[in-house]
Amino acid sequence: MPAFWAWFIAAGTIVFVIWCVWLISWSAKQGPQNKQDEELVGHTWDGDLEEWNNPAPKWWLYLYFITIAWGVGYMIAYPGIGAFEGLLGWSQEGQYEAEMQAAADRYDPIYERFAGMEFEVLAANADALKLGASLYASYCTTCHGSDARGAAGYPNLVDGAWIWGRNEAAITQTIMQGRNNVMPALAGALGGDTGVDNMVNYVRSLSGLVEADAAAMSVQPMFAALCSACHGADGGGNQLIGAPNLTDDAWLYGSSEDDVRSSIVNGRNGVMPAHGELLGAKRAKILAAYVYSLSGSN
Ligand code: HEC
Ligand code: HEC
Repeated sequence: MPAFWAWFIAAGTIVFVIWCVWLISWSAKQGPQNKQDEELVGHTWDGDLEEWNNPAPKWWLYLYFITIAWGVGYMIAYPGIGAFEGLLGWSQEGQYEAEMQAAADRYDPIYERFAGMEFEVLAANADALKLGASLYASYCTTCHGSDARGAAGYPNLVDGAWIWGRNEAAITQTIMQGRNNVMPALAGALGGDTGVDNMVNYVRSLSGLVEADAAAMSVQPMFAALCSACHGADGGGNQLIGAPNLTDDAWLYGSSEDDVRSSIVNGRNGVMPAHGELLGAKRAKILAAYVYSLSGSN
């Protein structure tokens, strides 16, 4: 805070406190002191209920002064008057730092122990998985669900189907750096509604959802030309570039005709935010091992 504003705020605070004391003392002296019951204000309710102009009781007045004294004491003990830091030396940052330090003292040795472990061993270590589960609950449930079964657009992490692959490198990269996955909109390339309808049927036939008729089979060359570069010639996907397998029963965006049509016509853009800065490499490794373990148990 620039010095001018610090002094400005300090002066404002002090002047305001003095003004409060003055106002309360001054108003306490107004009215018919010690001449109670002599003056009516002139308001009458319900016919005979009248208002007297009596001073407030003394205890009421003292409450005001006690409150002000408390406030002054508080601002001497804690930061509050401009840039003055308070006699207790307390600050928000200080409290935050102290809590972070306490957490680091407690958890660092644990993270350190896990950081040196082989990934597969870590993914089978009960303590690591417990810690992983609590990290997951804090950072990942909003998108992937508390049971890790995901939702439309958010992958199921327990089903054994992987967009990017079930291995340490892929999972760690997803967590640390995030993913920005793009499926292009391809309605135009398919030459209008009929082409799209046939492609929808063809794609759904790959996983056995429908029987492909002759019309659907007619777009097979188009699939080879437009889709196979990413999804593979047989639609089996490519984990290196994050192109999903279209032949299994796991669907990121849904398997209905409308869902598949929407994927093809409008394209898709799945974004997993980077968590590297938030988590750091050690916690990301524990989380990766936890996520890895989820589909192994299925
Ligand atoms: C803001 C939502 C969001 C949050 C928070 C989030 N994710 Fe994701 N995650 C996604 C999306 C969307 C994808 C799919 C990206 C794509 O389309 O390739 C994804 C993909 C993944 C994948 C790849 C799955 C696969 O099949 O290859 C893993 C692993 C993963 N997330 C783990 C996590 C973990 C662990 C956390 C917690 C640290 C987390 N995610 C937090 C949205 C999120
Ligand atoms: C440039 C690479 C690329 C091409 C070409 C491509 N796709 Fe995709 N496709 C992707 C990616 C990547 C995703 C996943 C998007 C995401 O995670 O948000 C995807 C997702 C999909 C999905 C959704 C899958 C699900 O699980 O919900 C369908 C369906 C699909 N593509 C069909 C096709 C068809 C049909 C073609 C050809 C007409 C095609 N794609 C061409 C990369 C591609």
